[in-house]
Amino acid sequence: MAVEVMEMGAASVIMINRPEALNALNTKTIDELTQAFRAAEGRAGTRAVIFTGAGTKSFVAGGDIAEMKAMTPIDAREYSSRGQALVVAMLSSAKPTIAAINGYALGGGLELALACDIRIASSNAVLGLPETTLATIPGFGGTQRLPRIIGEAKAKELIFTGDRLKATEALGHGLLNAVVEPEELIPSCLRLVEKIAATGPVAVAFAKKAIQTGQSLGLEAGLGVERELFGLTFATDDQKEGMGAFLAKRKPAYRGG
Ligand code: CAA
Repeated sequence: MAVEVMEMGAASVIMINRPEALNALNTKTIDELTQAFRAAEGRAGTRAVIFTGAGTKSFVAGGDIAEMKAMTPIDAREYSSRGQALVVAMLSSAKPTIAAINGYALGGGLELALACDIRIASSNAVLGLPETTLATIPGFGGTQRLPRIIGEAKAKELIFTGDRLKATEALGHGLLNAVVEPEELIPSCLRLVEKIAATGPVAVAFAKKAIQTGQSLGLEAGLGVERELFGLTFATDDQKEGMGAFLAKRKPAYRGG
């Protein structure tokens, strides 16, 4: 197996482990990742899913170039489709996802991180979309997600040149939420999950849905989605519990409904 899953409190940690290829994503690994993600998001105790790479050198060094080299256009389209299906599953999941970027996040590896809601990198991380240097283009959502996250001009520059960014540069462009020392990477992600775990699960799911849906809508339609979901949170016991606990000056005990 190239993918390992660890349960750590309210987090499921999914680790890509293909050291011989710097954790590059071949078809089998993408399938394993998709299955692992489906299982993790379905686990009742999981409030957020963390993706990381094994070792200290690489998060994911991209799609597997050895596998891709001989692909026909049909194979390549199918490969892109598998990667994109994982991206869509992550973005449409009710549970938050966090990329713990522990080294190289290149090509499909950065695209996996771009599919996460939050990205935290270790100080040795290197990020980029070098696909054009291999005479192809990002195929796991990079052309769509990167401009939405850092803006069109910088995204075009990075994709057209294949330039790599150091972690601190990526932070400056708004590509990362934080940069931490390598030994602090997983602990800081777990602390973030603990904070998420103290909130209302349905509220977080609805907030993610409103944000994601709103990205492909105009402002008015997006506000409409927000309004409906805001209203729906008032159908949950947790909303009554949250506001009741605030007024009673005690900690809320959420049940997820
Ligand atoms: N696919 C397959 N194998 C890879 C790989 C990849 N993306 N990246 C690294 N490897 C392999 C290398 O071939 C090498 O294998 P061998 O030991 O058998 O020779 C091993 O991992 C170690 O790599 P390097 O010797 O190159 O390590 P380095 O420290 O000198 O360089 C690196 C590290 C800068 C990350 C370099 O490996 C590199 O540039 N990798 C390719 C990055 C890339 O172009 N990614 C985009 C791929 S295309 C894509 O992702 C399409 C898409 O959108 C899905």
